[in-house]
Amino acid sequence: MTTVLAIGTYSETDRAALERDLSPVFANGPGDIAALPGEQRQQITALAFTGHQRLGSAEMGLLPNLGLIANYGVGYDAIDVAAASDRGIKVTNTPDVLTDDVADLAVALLIAQGRQMLPAAEWVSTGNWAARGSFGLARKISGGRAGIVGLGRIGRAIANRLAGFDMEIDYTSRREKETPGWTYHADPVSLARAVDYLIVALVGGPETEGHVSKEVLAALGPRGIIVNISRGSTIDEAALLDALESGAIAGAGLDVFLNEPNIDPRFLKLSNVVLQPHQGSATVETRAAMGQLQRDNISAFLNGDALLTPVN
Ligand code: 8YV
Repeated sequence: MTTVLAIGTYSETDRAALERDLSPVFANGPGDIAALPGEQRQQITALAFTGHQRLGSAEMGLLPNLGLIANYGVGYDAIDVAAASDRGIKVTNTPDVLTDDVADLAVALLIAQGRQMLPAAEWVSTGNWAARGSFGLARKISGGRAGIVGLGRIGRAIANRLAGFDMEIDYTSRREKETPGWTYHADPVSLARAVDYLIVALVGGPETEGHVSKEVLAALGPRGIIVNISRGSTIDEAALLDALESGAIAGAGLDVFLNEPNIDPRFLKLSNVVLQPHQGSATVETRAAMGQLQRDNISAFLNGDALLTPVN
């Protein structure tokens, strides 16, 4: 009897491992739950979830015996956790195993944008180097002042890496934290005013929506570079596009957007950005670890053992 439903797009490896360990029934998205036969929906007790489509109370209600939603990802803003709790459904995520990769990408985006790596690579590939000479000068990154917006696990890993680049670290967070002498700002405008680079590592969801506002971007200023590896929703995206187009900030390195993968076409016309298709955790090693943790949470639940990484 199938008791596990796997929702979303899994890599071939993860799909094979899910099939091997849990023999789930697969569905593309939360919108497909209603189309499953009623008898099958009755049998589902655990959900392996991936993706960024909303999994809300209505979808949960279609699975009357659901006891676990195991998210593939650290961010679970797509899942209505309050509704899950109300229904007695446990939620798990995949923290820690992806921290290094996401932090690495944040640093790479900052350096790639500051050092003009994309236009410089194009200078080589188009033959301009030989035909027209040197590319020109970029921007020194080491020794600058970095502002981390959201000092959770990933924010801290980014700060530690940037400290290794001799950067002064400032941060904002829900509350002041114990740090090796990093400067706390209660307000993101004050943070942005103090730093050269702003790196956004907030959790997603309604409480952080538009947290990096037009005012924050104005405070970052025309030499400022912003990096976002969190969720598109954490920045006022219209204000970000305005600031990038007008030169109100110098540039951006972005891994996340509103409405992925159908991002605002204004992004595609910009020359002062490095854009990634939500690749933060997308390495072979990390995705394997995320899949393992997701399956381990499901197995623990099915065996009546303690969940490894509970959210609620
Ligand atoms: C995605 C992520 O979950 O962990 C997160 O919060 O955003 C990513 O790892 C990944 O794209 C799988 O959907």
